[in-house]
Amino acid sequence: MSTSQSRRQWLKSSLLFSAGAAAFPASAWAADSPEFSYPEAPEVWMPEREAAAVTIRLNANENPYGPSDKARLAIVDALKLGNRYPWLHTPELVSMIAKKEGLKEENILLGAGSSELLAKAGFAFGMAAGAQVISANPTFMSLMRYAQVAGAKWVPVELTAKYAHDFDAMEAAMKGENNLMYICNPNNPTGTLTPANDIEAFCKRVSKHAPIFCDEAYNEFLDEPKKHSMVHLINEGYPVMVAKTFSKIHGMAGLRIGYLMGRKEEIEKVAAFDGRGMTLAATSVKAAIASYQDEEFVKECLAKNAAVRKHVCQGLENMGIEYIPSYTNFMMFKIPMSTQAFIGEMQSHGVGIRGWEMKGGPWCRVSMGTMDEMDGFLAALKKVV
Ligand SMILES: Cc1ncc(COP(=O)(O)O)c(C=O)c1O
Repeated sequence: MSTSQSRRQWLKSSLLFSAGAAAFPASAWAADSPEFSYPEAPEVWMPEREAAAVTIRLNANENPYGPSDKARLAIVDALKLGNRYPWLHTPELVSMIAKKEGLKEENILLGAGSSELLAKAGFAFGMAAGAQVISANPTFMSLMRYAQVAGAKWVPVELTAKYAHDFDAMEAAMKGENNLMYICNPNNPTGTLTPANDIEAFCKRVSKHAPIFCDEAYNEFLDEPKKHSMVHLINEGYPVMVAKTFSKIHGMAGLRIGYLMGRKEEIEKVAAFDGRGMTLAATSVKAAIASYQDEEFVKECLAKNAAVRKHVCQGLENMGIEYIPSYTNFMMFKIPMSTQAFIGEMQSHGVGIRGWEMKGGPWCRVSMGTMDEMDGFLAALKKVV
């Protein structure tokens, strides 16, 4: 059995086990058919990215400053209740999020990282008959991969020349009754921003026919996060879902906690796989509660990230390397060799990065580490290019 086949088999059996066979008709598993294959996303994946040789990890858009001191203390404090399920703490976090976002508790679903919510949404919407998920390309692929396993088709739509979503083309790609739109803003891997007005107009026009999943994992890195968020559309009654995470600005990627916001209808659909928080760790929930209130820590991370990003832009300019101005904690730049070769070369200098084929050429995506780490990265880059 091939790896992808066995993975599908595992997903199928674990879902059947956790949710009851009756909820998943055999027709939902078109992915099991022998003709099934994944359309290739343009990322150049490097299995060796976890290799011991990598001492400067700039390949996963992690925040090098987290978790905050307050989150660390909260984790220690939570240990004494480690024998209990996390339900003692989840209502507090849910109500904090609801209050800050102007929503009701019923509009919030927690997950073990936003990845869990992308997965559940991918399955929930992807298993409908003839389902399509329409997204920009390149973008963050998690939801589309799960939707494809559930039997949906992924329809990639090239980013515009300004690396924004091409909403006319995304709308034109709709077919049949079951389309889901995935919008990642700012977009990973490009670090670029699609104007909020354009997204809002698209959501208002199109969500009547196709629900929309807005992935706002990097929203807090923007100067005016609220202005760029689509959360307000939920209260206005649009079938728009918004995912956020504690992995990025809160520096808690290893603690696995994120949240999805949406109307009760969409939240219930995604929570059907399990909305009780059985995948959450009490320690992570307590850390999230502490970090969510720690405005000082967030401010500090933003300031450091902005300073580091400026320094890296300057370094790239000094070497005459073309880059895409970024709104996030990562950025893309053009490389003069194949992505595979470049990743290997950088790794031999201890630096982990990622590569993409984009608009016909090889690109590298580098995450913003500490100033020292980025000096290490720039020094390695000088030797490689
Ligand atoms: C756009 C985007 N969404 C979601 C995630 C998943 O984050 P997590 O599962 O850690 O919340 C990532 C991780 O890199 C991301 O880049």
